[in-house]
Amino acid sequence: MACSVGDDLDPPEPGQFVHLDALAGLALRRPFSVAGIPATGLLELLIELVGEGTQALSALPIGTTVSILGPLGRGFTMPPSGAPAVIVAGGAGVAGVRLLAQRLAQRPEPLTMLVGARDRDHLLHRLLPEATPDGRLKQQVATDDGSAGLPGTVCELLVRELGNTPDEAVVYCCGPRAMTEAAGVLALERGLHCEVSLEEIMACGTGACRGCVVKTRDGYKTVCSDGPVFDASTLVLEGVACA
Ligand SMILES: Cc1cc2nc3c(=O)[nH]c(=O)nc-3n(C[C@H](O)[C@H](O)[C@H](O)COP(=O)(O)OP(=O)(O)OC[C@H]3O[C@@H](n4cnc5c(N)ncnc54)[C@H](O)[C@@H]3O)c2cc1C
Ligand code: FES
Repeated sequence: MACSVGDDLDPPEPGQFVHLDALAGLALRRPFSVAGIPATGLLELLIELVGEGTQALSALPIGTTVSILGPLGRGFTMPPSGAPAVIVAGGAGVAGVRLLAQRLAQRPEPLTMLVGARDRDHLLHRLLPEATPDGRLKQQVATDDGSAGLPGTVCELLVRELGNTPDEAVVYCCGPRAMTEAAGVLALERGLHCEVSLEEIMACGTGACRGCVVKTRDGYKTVCSDGPVFDASTLVLEGVACA
């Protein structure tokens, strides 16, 4: 979905999201990562059809006015100069790292993009910067059913990648909760700085209702305003299965 927005929207940072009114008489807005800023006043969103709200959004005629709150939340931080980056994205999580990947691709340092999906039809790696012949930008894919790339999960790609990754590399993860937590655990075990974007069902989207809290080493934090991007080392991560 590409939407034009008014003049009052601050430029989104990689990892930030917007909160959309799906116009279906639903009580709650729905959060979506900013997946692109193709021109001033435009936002690109990538929306997987999941339930009532996303179905309603997908059925809106082009030109419909929708209320947008945002950009919201804390996004990703850029790696220090000289540090290679590894992006781990599962399913529609590609939307959450797309702006980040575009920025990282402008740096001279290596960028490896690991993308997973349930099957080849759901792989979204083509929305990320293309691999380059010199190997500075790399893409690897995995599918649960083995229809493209490595048969298995994106975490299995990460395990292989971590064997070759220098100690100063930074790992960024976005996707289904179990996947991001598992990837975060793997990166931390390898001693790398890792940032994960967490998904949580949201109500206000601005830190007021505390309906989206996540357990951290410093107490409960809200995913919508303290996150959605967290330094993985600050979280109490429970996802240890390579989901
Ligand atoms: C910060 C953030 C960024 C997101 N970015 C994107 C994005 O770029 N593209 C995209 O397709 N999706 C994204 N999501 C997930 C998206 O918000 C949900 O899929 C959407 O709200 C589902 O709405 P629905 O009305 O269609 O489904 P519902 O009918 O509300 O729910 C259907 C199913 O999805 C689950 N669900 C609902 N909301 C969420 C949620 N926020 N996280 C996890 N599960 C949920 C419900 O428990 C239920 O099982 C993001 C979520 C967050 C928190
Ligand atoms: S959704 Fe209300 S505090 Fe996060």
